[in-house]
Amino acid sequence: MHGAFDVPRRAEEVGLDPRVLVGGPDCKQPYLASILNVSAMSFGSLSENAVLALNKGAKVGGFAHNTGEGGISPYHLEPGGDLIWQIGTGYFGCRKANGTFCQDTFAKQALLDNVKMIEIKLSQGAKPGHGGILPAAKNTEEIARIRHVAPFTDILSPPYHTAFSEATGLMNFIRLLRELSGGKPIGFKLCIGEKEEFIDLCKAMLETGITPDFITVDGGEGGTGAAPVEFSNSMGLPLRDGLALSVAFAWAVLKGDTLYPKWMAFFAPILPLSFVFLSYLLIPAVGRFLVPTAMNVAHLALFTASLCAVSKNR
Ligand SMILES: Cc1cc2nc3c(=O)[nH]c(=O)nc-3n(C[C@H](O)[C@H](O)[C@H](O)COP(=O)(O)O)c2cc1C
Repeated sequence: MHGAFDVPRRAEEVGLDPRVLVGGPDCKQPYLASILNVSAMSFGSLSENAVLALNKGAKVGGFAHNTGEGGISPYHLEPGGDLIWQIGTGYFGCRKANGTFCQDTFAKQALLDNVKMIEIKLSQGAKPGHGGILPAAKNTEEIARIRHVAPFTDILSPPYHTAFSEATGLMNFIRLLRELSGGKPIGFKLCIGEKEEFIDLCKAMLETGITPDFITVDGGEGGTGAAPVEFSNSMGLPLRDGLALSVAFAWAVLKGDTLYPKWMAFFAPILPLSFVFLSYLLIPAVGRFLVPTAMNVAHLALFTASLCAVSKNR
């Protein structure tokens, strides 16, 4: 088939600029982001050379490089590529001695020119609901300096944030980071697990009037530097489902609208079941063939019904 199309041309030549402007109305320094960027991987899980190479690539290719939760190392800064600074529950690079969030050190690093956006890490697909540990043996002088921790000690990243709790707390934290960073785009990363928790986040946006500038959705199949094996592949929704659900729920809750008419909430689960029942009754052989198809339809219908219910709950 490729012979039927033009010779591939650079985006600039065809007048396309495949970038997206990130930053809502409260953001004073929106960022024109590439649609492909480097996912969060911290210095420590990656070597000095790997970080240097990724950031140099970001500089040359005009995309952004996410620092991961291990703080901003000199290797993230030296090549001059755009950075997304990620902040996890360990607040590495912006923490006090007791491990809690430090506004002063956050502001100092957030104002760096290289830092274009800031991402609060709630969870990642490879270990949703799990924290992390930096073992003493890997906590070298250099890593400790970058992360603002004591060297050669075990450092825990708890599975929860200490700077806020609950969904409204997260929204207020977003506002605080936006102020401290001089109005840079602030978002959060998560892997979708309990759907109600994501709905709660959307409702908190409505209640507080504070919205993130972006949301990163990770899939349950995502990679990691370190995770217990039972967590690594089988928890959290896979990327496609997580992305579809988060977009649909955000739409339903924030816009107060459904993608489907509300009467479907009642009829949607009934229709495919009666379809299976009738086909069994009328033509048993065809009925058996139709069962798997009907199951898929039922799945879709239940999804639709929950969307309608979300909108009704507002
Ligand atoms: C070596 C390595 C280190 C990672 N470190 C982090 C991290 O610090 N923070 C985070 O949110 N995700 C981390 N991740 C997960 C990635 O950011 C990403 O969510 C995951 O790999 C899924 O993206 P992919 O499908 O492009 O691999 C790491 C992944 C790898 C492979």
